[in-house]
Amino acid sequence: MKKFCLDLTVVSVSKINDRYVLIKLTHNEELPQMEPGQFVEVRVDGSPTTFLRRPISINFVDRKNNQLWLLVATVGDGTHKMAQLKEGEILNCVLPLGKSFTMPQQQEKYLLVGGGVGTAPMLYLGEQLKKMGCAPTFLLGARSQKDLLELDYFEPLGRLFVTTEDGTAGEKGFVTNHSILQNETFDRICVCGPTPMMKAVAQYARQKNIECEVSLENMMACGVGACLCCVEKTTEGNLCVCTDGPVFNIKQLLWQS
Ligand code: FES
Repeated sequence: MKKFCLDLTVVSVSKINDRYVLIKLTHNEELPQMEPGQFVEVRVDGSPTTFLRRPISINFVDRKNNQLWLLVATVGDGTHKMAQLKEGEILNCVLPLGKSFTMPQQQEKYLLVGGGVGTAPMLYLGEQLKKMGCAPTFLLGARSQKDLLELDYFEPLGRLFVTTEDGTAGEKGFVTNHSILQNETFDRICVCGPTPMMKAVAQYARQKNIECEVSLENMMACGVGACLCCVEKTTEGNLCVCTDGPVFNIKQLLWQS
Protein backbone atom coordinates (compact mmCIF):
# COMPACT_ATOMS: atom_id res chain seq x y z
CA MET A 1 0.00 0.00 0.00
CA LYS A 2 1.49 3.33 -1.01
CA LYS A 3 2.65 5.54 1.87
CA PHE A 4 2.44 9.30 1.99
CA CYS A 5 4.19 12.01 3.98
CA LEU A 6 1.58 14.75 4.31
CA ASP A 7 1.31 18.11 6.01
CA LEU A 8 -2.16 17.83 7.53
CA THR A 9 -4.02 20.83 8.88
CA VAL A 10 -5.53 20.77 12.37
CA VAL A 11 -9.31 21.22 12.28
CA SER A 12 -9.84 20.85 16.03
CA VAL A 13 -8.35 19.46 19.21
CA SER A 14 -10.98 18.42 21.76
CA LYS A 15 -10.22 17.43 25.28
CA ILE A 16 -12.10 14.20 26.02
CA ASN A 17 -11.01 13.90 29.64
CA ASP A 18 -7.91 14.59 31.76
CA ARG A 19 -5.85 12.18 29.72
CA TYR A 20 -7.16 12.07 26.17
CA VAL A 21 -7.60 14.47 23.27
CA LEU A 22 -9.25 13.93 19.91
CA ILE A 23 -7.35 15.62 17.08
CA LYS A 24 -9.17 16.09 13.77
CA LEU A 25 -6.98 16.75 10.74
CA THR A 26 -7.67 17.54 7.12
CA HIS A 27 -5.77 17.95 3.87
CA ASN A 28 -6.20 20.16 0.83
CA GLU A 29 -6.41 17.03 -1.34
CA GLU A 30 -8.42 13.88 -0.76
CA LEU A 31 -6.91 11.83 2.06
CA PRO A 32 -5.36 8.54 0.89
CA GLN A 33 -6.90 5.11 1.34
CA MET A 34 -6.52 3.90 4.94
CA GLU A 35 -7.61 0.64 6.52
CA PRO A 36 -8.81 -0.13 10.06
CA GLY A 37 -5.93 -1.11 12.33
CA GLN A 38 -3.33 0.89 10.44
CA PHE A 39 -1.47 3.77 12.09
CA VAL A 40 0.30 7.03 11.30
CA GLU A 41 3.71 8.28 12.39
CA VAL A 42 3.42 11.85 13.58
CA ARG A 43 6.28 14.34 13.62
CA VAL A 44 6.11 16.42 16.77
CA ASP A 45 7.61 19.85 16.14
CA GLY A 46 8.71 22.15 18.94
CA SER A 47 9.34 19.47 21.59
CA PRO A 48 13.02 19.41 22.57
CA THR A 49 12.75 15.85 23.94
CA THR A 50 10.79 14.26 21.08
CA PHE A 51 13.18 13.33 18.29
CA LEU A 52 11.32 10.38 16.86
CA ARG A 53 7.92 10.37 15.24
CA ARG A 54 5.08 9.10 17.42
CA PRO A 55 2.98 6.13 16.22
CA ILE A 56 -0.74 6.86 16.62
CA SER A 57 -3.61 4.55 15.62
CA ILE A 58 -6.09 5.70 13.04
CA ASN A 59 -9.19 6.42 15.09
CA PHE A 60 -11.51 7.32 12.22
CA VAL A 61 -11.51 8.51 8.63
CA ASP A 62 -14.39 10.87 7.98
CA ARG A 63 -14.62 10.77 4.18
CA LYS A 64 -17.54 13.20 4.05
CA ASN A 65 -15.46 15.95 5.64
CA ASN A 66 -12.06 14.63 4.42
CA GLN A 67 -10.82 14.27 8.00
CA LEU A 68 -8.46 11.93 9.79
CA TRP A 69 -9.10 11.53 13.52
CA LEU A 70 -6.40 10.66 16.03
CA LEU A 71 -7.26 9.79 19.62
CA VAL A 72 -4.19 10.67 21.65
CA ALA A 73 -3.32 9.70 25.23
CA THR A 74 -1.22 12.52 26.64
CA VAL A 75 1.48 10.50 28.36
CA GLY A 76 4.75 12.24 27.47
CA ASP A 77 6.24 15.46 26.12
CA GLY A 78 5.43 14.63 22.50
CA THR A 79 1.78 13.84 23.05
CA HIS A 80 1.37 16.82 25.41
CA LYS A 81 2.72 19.00 22.61
CA MET A 82 0.19 17.46 20.23
CA ALA A 83 -2.60 18.24 22.68
CA GLN A 84 -1.63 21.92 22.51
CA LEU A 85 -2.04 22.16 18.73
CA LYS A 86 -4.35 24.90 17.52
CA GLU A 87 -6.79 25.03 14.62
CA GLY A 88 -4.94 25.78 11.38
CA GLU A 89 -1.57 24.47 12.55
CA ILE A 90 0.22 21.74 10.62
CA LEU A 91 0.92 18.20 11.74
CA ASN A 92 3.24 16.20 9.49
CA CYS A 93 2.15 12.55 9.23
CA VAL A 94 3.47 9.49 7.41
CA LEU A 95 0.55 7.23 6.52
CA PRO A 96 -0.93 4.70 6.27
CA LEU A 97 1.43 2.27 8.03
CA GLY A 98 1.12 -1.37 9.08
CA LYS A 99 -1.38 -4.11 8.39
CA SER A 100 -5.09 -3.89 9.04
CA PHE A 101 -7.62 -6.15 10.72
CA THR A 102 -9.10 -8.88 8.51
CA MET A 103 -12.32 -7.74 6.91
CA PRO A 104 -15.23 -10.15 6.32
CA GLN A 105 -15.56 -12.15 3.09
CA GLN A 106 -19.13 -13.12 4.01
CA GLN A 107 -21.61 -12.44 6.80
CA GLU A 108 -19.58 -12.75 10.00
CA LYS A 109 -20.39 -11.85 13.56
CA TYR A 110 -17.63 -9.60 14.88
CA LEU A 111 -16.88 -8.70 18.47
CA LEU A 112 -14.61 -5.65 18.82
CA VAL A 113 -12.94 -5.33 22.20
CA GLY A 114 -11.14 -2.17 23.26
CA GLY A 115 -9.52 -0.95 26.44
CA GLY A 116 -8.06 2.48 27.17
CA VAL A 117 -6.55 4.14 24.10
CA GLY A 118 -6.94 0.72 22.46
CA THR A 119 -10.54 1.64 21.77
CA ALA A 120 -9.25 4.05 19.09
CA PRO A 121 -8.92 1.67 16.10
CA MET A 122 -12.26 0.02 16.93
CA LEU A 123 -14.24 3.06 15.82
CA TYR A 124 -12.99 3.03 12.22
CA LEU A 125 -13.10 -0.77 12.14
CA GLY A 126 -16.70 -0.73 13.38
CA GLU A 127 -17.75 1.84 10.82
CA GLN A 128 -16.18 -0.11 7.97
CA LEU A 129 -17.79 -3.36 9.15
CA LYS A 130 -21.18 -1.67 9.36
CA LYS A 131 -20.74 -0.34 5.82
CA MET A 132 -20.08 -3.91 4.67
CA GLY A 133 -23.31 -5.12 6.29
CA CYS A 134 -21.64 -6.71 9.36
CA ALA A 135 -22.57 -4.27 12.14
CA PRO A 136 -20.34 -5.39 15.02
CA THR A 137 -20.78 -5.77 18.76
CA PHE A 138 -18.49 -3.51 20.79
CA LEU A 139 -17.20 -4.39 24.23
CA LEU A 140 -15.24 -1.52 25.74
CA GLY A 141 -13.50 -1.60 29.10
CA ALA A 142 -12.16 1.14 31.33
CA ARG A 143 -11.24 1.79 34.93
CA SER A 144 -14.16 4.13 35.51
CA GLN A 145 -16.99 5.82 33.63
CA LYS A 146 -14.91 8.95 33.01
CA ASP A 147 -12.29 6.81 31.23
CA LEU A 148 -14.71 5.44 28.62
CA LEU A 149 -13.97 7.07 25.28
CA GLU A 150 -16.13 8.18 22.35
CA LEU A 151 -19.25 6.22 23.37
CA ASP A 152 -21.42 8.64 21.37
CA TYR A 153 -19.51 7.76 18.22
CA PHE A 154 -19.63 4.00 18.86
CA GLU A 155 -23.33 3.81 19.67
CA PRO A 156 -24.73 4.26 16.12
CA LEU A 157 -22.40 1.64 14.64
CA GLY A 158 -23.52 -1.52 16.47
CA ARG A 159 -24.45 -2.96 19.86
CA LEU A 160 -22.37 -1.41 22.61
CA PHE A 161 -21.46 -3.00 25.95
CA VAL A 162 -19.09 -1.60 28.55
CA THR A 163 -17.33 -2.74 31.68
CA THR A 164 -15.72 -0.60 34.34
CA GLU A 165 -13.46 -1.82 37.11
CA ASP A 166 -15.29 0.30 39.70
CA GLY A 167 -18.78 -0.44 38.39
CA THR A 168 -19.61 3.21 37.58
CA ALA A 169 -20.83 2.22 34.09
CA GLY A 170 -21.88 -1.05 32.49
CA GLU A 171 -20.98 -4.31 34.19
CA LYS A 172 -18.42 -4.19 36.98
CA GLY A 173 -15.13 -5.95 36.27
CA PHE A 174 -12.99 -6.66 33.23
CA VAL A 175 -14.09 -7.18 29.65
CA THR A 176 -13.47 -10.92 29.96
CA ASN A 177 -16.06 -11.12 32.78
CA HIS A 178 -18.82 -9.51 30.73
CA SER A 179 -21.97 -11.61 30.41
CA ILE A 180 -22.03 -11.19 26.62
CA LEU A 181 -19.11 -13.61 26.43
CA GLN A 182 -21.09 -16.23 28.32
CA ASN A 183 -24.37 -15.67 26.51
CA GLU A 184 -23.34 -15.33 22.88
CA THR A 185 -20.84 -16.61 20.42
CA PHE A 186 -18.95 -14.77 17.68
CA ASP A 187 -17.14 -15.69 14.47
CA ARG A 188 -14.26 -13.29 15.01
CA ILE A 189 -12.87 -11.11 17.78
CA CYS A 190 -10.64 -8.07 17.23
CA VAL A 191 -8.87 -6.64 20.28
CA CYS A 192 -6.75 -3.63 21.13
CA GLY A 193 -5.77 -2.48 24.60
CA PRO A 194 -3.44 -3.27 27.49
CA THR A 195 -1.49 -6.51 27.00
CA PRO A 196 -3.04 -8.37 29.99
CA MET A 197 -6.49 -7.60 28.58
CA MET A 198 -5.53 -8.78 25.09
CA LYS A 199 -4.00 -11.97 26.51
CA ALA A 200 -7.14 -12.69 28.55
CA VAL A 201 -9.39 -12.19 25.50
CA ALA A 202 -7.01 -14.31 23.40
CA GLN A 203 -7.27 -17.11 25.94
CA TYR A 204 -11.07 -16.91 25.82
CA ALA A 205 -11.02 -16.99 21.98
CA ARG A 206 -8.65 -19.95 21.95
CA GLN A 207 -10.88 -21.92 24.35
CA LYS A 208 -13.95 -21.17 22.26
CA ASN A 209 -12.14 -21.74 18.97
CA ILE A 210 -12.94 -18.25 17.70
CA GLU A 211 -10.70 -16.44 15.21
CA CYS A 212 -9.00 -13.60 17.06
CA GLU A 213 -6.75 -10.75 16.03
CA VAL A 214 -4.95 -8.39 18.39
CA SER A 215 -3.25 -5.07 17.72
CA LEU A 216 0.11 -4.98 19.49
CA GLU A 217 1.47 -1.77 20.94
CA ASN A 218 5.20 -2.59 21.13
CA MET A 219 7.57 0.34 21.38
CA MET A 220 8.11 1.80 17.92
CA ALA A 221 10.58 4.25 16.45
CA CYS A 222 10.98 4.30 12.66
CA GLY A 223 7.61 2.71 11.86
CA VAL A 224 8.90 1.28 8.59
CA GLY A 225 10.87 -1.85 9.51
CA ALA A 226 14.32 -0.25 9.69
CA CYS A 227 15.26 0.05 13.38
CA LEU A 228 13.99 -3.35 14.67
CA CYS A 229 13.00 -1.90 18.03
CA CYS A 230 9.45 -3.25 17.70
CA VAL A 231 10.30 -6.91 17.09
CA GLU A 232 7.90 -9.56 18.42
CA LYS A 233 8.86 -13.24 18.66
CA THR A 234 6.22 -15.24 16.78
CA THR A 235 5.62 -18.72 15.42
CA GLU A 236 7.09 -17.37 12.17
CA GLY A 237 10.24 -16.02 13.83
CA ASN A 238 10.94 -12.41 14.76
CA LEU A 239 8.47 -10.05 13.10
CA CYS A 240 8.33 -6.26 13.10
CA VAL A 241 5.14 -4.98 14.70
CA CYS A 242 5.29 -1.85 12.54
CA THR A 243 5.35 -3.63 9.18
CA ASP A 244 4.18 -7.22 9.82
CA GLY A 245 1.59 -5.94 12.34
CA PRO A 246 0.45 -4.16 14.39
CA VAL A 247 -2.44 -6.59 13.85
CA PHE A 248 -1.61 -10.26 14.39
CA ASN A 249 -3.72 -13.39 14.51
CA ILE A 250 -3.24 -14.87 17.99
CA LYS A 251 -2.12 -18.13 16.32
CA GLN A 252 1.04 -16.26 15.28
CA LEU A 253 1.88 -15.20 18.83
CA LEU A 254 3.77 -17.12 21.50
CA TRP A 255 1.32 -16.19 24.21
CA GLN A 256 0.81 -19.04 26.65
CA SER A 257 -2.25 -17.65 28.32
FE1 FES B 1 11.47 0.48 13.54
FE2 FES B 1 9.45 -1.29 13.67
S1 FES B 1 9.58 0.65 14.56
S2 FES B 1 11.40 -1.55 12.79
